[in-house]
Amino acid sequence: MTDPAAPITVEVDLGERAYNIVIGEGLIASAAEHVAPLLAQPATFIITDEHLAGHWLAPLQASLDAAGVGHATKILPAGEQTKSIGYVDELTGWLLDSGIDRKTTLIALGGGVIGDLTGFCAAITLRGIPFIQIPTTLLAQVDSSVGGKTGVDTPHGKNLVGAFHQPKLVLADTGSLDTLPWRQVLAGYAEVVKYGMIGDAGFFEWCEANAGALLAGDAGARRYAIEASCRAKAAIVAEDERESGRRALLNLGHTFAHAFEAEAGYSDTLLHGEAVALGCLAAFELSRRLGLCPGQDVERVRAHLETVGLPVTLAGIADAGWTPEAIVGHMGKDKKVDAGRITFVLARAIGDAFTTRDVDPDVLDGLLSEILNH
Ligand code: GLY
Repeated sequence: MTDPAAPITVEVDLGERAYNIVIGEGLIASAAEHVAPLLAQPATFIITDEHLAGHWLAPLQASLDAAGVGHATKILPAGEQTKSIGYVDELTGWLLDSGIDRKTTLIALGGGVIGDLTGFCAAITLRGIPFIQIPTTLLAQVDSSVGGKTGVDTPHGKNLVGAFHQPKLVLADTGSLDTLPWRQVLAGYAEVVKYGMIGDAGFFEWCEANAGALLAGDAGARRYAIEASCRAKAAIVAEDERESGRRALLNLGHTFAHAFEAEAGYSDTLLHGEAVALGCLAAFELSRRLGLCPGQDVERVRAHLETVGLPVTLAGIADAGWTPEAIVGHMGKDKKVDAGRITFVLARAIGDAFTTRDVDPDVLDGLLSEILNH
């Protein structure tokens, strides 16, 4: 019989850049077992943040020590502000001062900010060095640590400077979610249910039935949700690593979400996952208004997001300064804009998303006016 507590491995099948995502409880404390065989030299550089360091750094270091793997550690401030060019400068400076070479492996221990920043530094330092992701938030475990998108924010917007650089391993310790604030777990869940909305109506149904258990910390539900999400993402990334087609589906809700986040000043008023929930609902509502998606599917999405406690309206988030013109302006700065036309991910139904540049601006404007007036 399969041990329900045994780690699960999902492969990201990218030829010579293929790697495993290992999912399980307690993996940080036994990290060296998975990390050491991948190292070209028994030395690593760990990058983490002040918050995570208090919880997970000691068990990671102890595991590396026990395996005779050396480590140096850089602890950065927690928060989105750290995902900036300034910290790229600081981190690459530290690595180069430390005398690294092309076989040096970085370990990102943290959420999306640490993973994206570390991955980007790994991509550009000495024109590319190996790195390993140890994601400690639900959002990072199901999305940002997988697939090799790395980068930082600039005053122009989120993730506008970056590179594709695949990790050598993703180690998702489900136990690390125990120390995650509730709001962060819920925000990460938006990226879980997104996979159901994109291409798996059965998984959406599973989410409707099991989100309560998952969010309450049920180990089985948590493992299954992370595994299903990583399998969905791994399949898409294996098919379209550089987002020339199908990978764009993973951006369901993100065109709206990034615009809402920009208006909110990338602050704690609106977490990324919360913006994704609002953005997914907006994408389904836009699909309905364009005559593409049945209203009952939109209502099912709304009901589920509301039941779990994710935001379904901008009430209390947007102020009078948020206008449809400003939102469309942010959308126009997205990486996915092509010849001035914004790419939208829309849906024909739950589990049947597709991309299009063909959206009537008046319908979009009407929807945004309504959303902004709550
Ligand atoms: N988060 C979207 C992607 O990795 O493509």
